[in-house]
Amino acid sequence: MANTILVGAQWGDEGKGKIIDFLTEKAEIVVRSQGGNNAGHTVIVGGTKYVLHLIPSGILRPGTKCVIGNGVVLDPVAVAGEIEGLRAKGISVTPENLMVSDAAHLVLPYHRKLDEAREIARGSGKIGTTKRGIGPAYGDKIARVGLRVADLLQPAVLSEKLAARISENNALLATYGIEGLDFQTVLKEVSAAAELLRPFVANTVVYLHEAVRNKKEILFEGAQGTFLDIDHGTYPYVTSSNTTAGGACTGSGVPPHRIDRVLGVIKAYTTRVGEGPFPTEDEPLSDMLHGMGREFGSTTGRARRCGWFDAVAVRYAGMINGIDDLAVTNLDGLDSLDSIRVCTHYKLNGQLLETPPMDYVQLAACEPVYTELPGWKTPTEDIREWDRLPDNARSYLLKIAELSGAKLVIASVGPNREQTILL
Ligand code: GDP
Ligand code: IMO
Ligand code: MG
Repeated sequence: MANTILVGAQWGDEGKGKIIDFLTEKAEIVVRSQGGNNAGHTVIVGGTKYVLHLIPSGILRPGTKCVIGNGVVLDPVAVAGEIEGLRAKGISVTPENLMVSDAAHLVLPYHRKLDEAREIARGSGKIGTTKRGIGPAYGDKIARVGLRVADLLQPAVLSEKLAARISENNALLATYGIEGLDFQTVLKEVSAAAELLRPFVANTVVYLHEAVRNKKEILFEGAQGTFLDIDHGTYPYVTSSNTTAGGACTGSGVPPHRIDRVLGVIKAYTTRVGEGPFPTEDEPLSDMLHGMGREFGSTTGRARRCGWFDAVAVRYAGMINGIDDLAVTNLDGLDSLDSIRVCTHYKLNGQLLETPPMDYVQLAACEPVYTELPGWKTPTEDIREWDRLPDNARSYLLKIAELSGAKLVIASVGPNREQTILL
């Protein structure tokens, strides 16, 4: 039995949802501990595609318990909609398989409006957020003026706090020239979502501690990726939570010494949505992948920026997260290439760097140093065993794992559950 933190080791969208779904054949509990519905985790089961935003990807496996931990920012209306959407697709979502922390902070309509207003005000310096209100909601949490799930369940408290917050935020929105919100309308909408959520709310910390004591296997489902981390990412082009392994502990209340393993998920190349530096970005590779109908965002539908595999970044992700094992997805995206570039170092002011600089201006000035590996020019999507992969594909996977300093344990050759090779 092992408690595993699964993290994205790049800029998000590494294929975490698919790997979580694959691993939940064994894991008994899946926990989200940070982020909100800025996440979009795609899982394809039996030909049906599910994109999960707030609900852990384990929900598709009968018998798996899903927990939305205290570190998540929860949009009550969005999560109510997500529950209803899953039910409409025949997925059972009940207090038996979903639990929501009473300490999770809420994303409310003024957060979304403020997110959008700030992006517009930033002009060409915009972050390219998902406009889900994530930054302003975490801002309120840190400023100690946020509302939490527990407030949802007490109508008088909810009404009083919401009135005060709407009043302050309407004044703030006015400074951006944006019309404020009507208190009664918001209260009605949020109260309806609260009633739907009420049966799911619990003290998830106590539940998880009991699970640890009973040696249940827990999988922590990271959202976003290492370089979107508020501390370790390409600030300010980041999200507002700790997306790295430490966030799983603070965001769930499970202590660090109860974690057995950290699994990093990476794509066989690199993608990024939104603005910010991206050293290995490559337009022809982007065009090729988009031409194959791939790499469009699961949450916003935006075309993802694509580039070569960046071992400098993943090496650093290995340090911050303590990555033991690696799962590499989307190997099949490179099937048609004659040769494939891998960035081993950056060059900055004539110096060779093994790890990325923290400052985004410096990172943007880094030039990638590439090594070139031969392609395999063979479709891999139907391959299920390591030994049957083309030699060059195996060499490529082992090389990127070696450069990243972690052990390769899973290779994924398609979006479906069964398109997975276990080493
Ligand atoms: P997440 O946010 O990390 O869960 O990743 P997303 O779901 O946003 O994006 C990953 C995309 O790649 C989704 O469309 C997945 O269905 C898809 N995917 C995952 N693994 C593979 C793979 O090995 N091959 C292919 N072709 N698609 C994959
Ligand atoms: P998953 O879990 C990729 C990016 C946004 C933007 C920045 C800040 O699916 O991997 P935010 O709305 O969080 O304030 O936006 O972070 N971003 C993601 N990029 N995958 C995600 O989640 C992301 N969640 C946020 O595009 O650049
Ligand atoms: Mg995603």
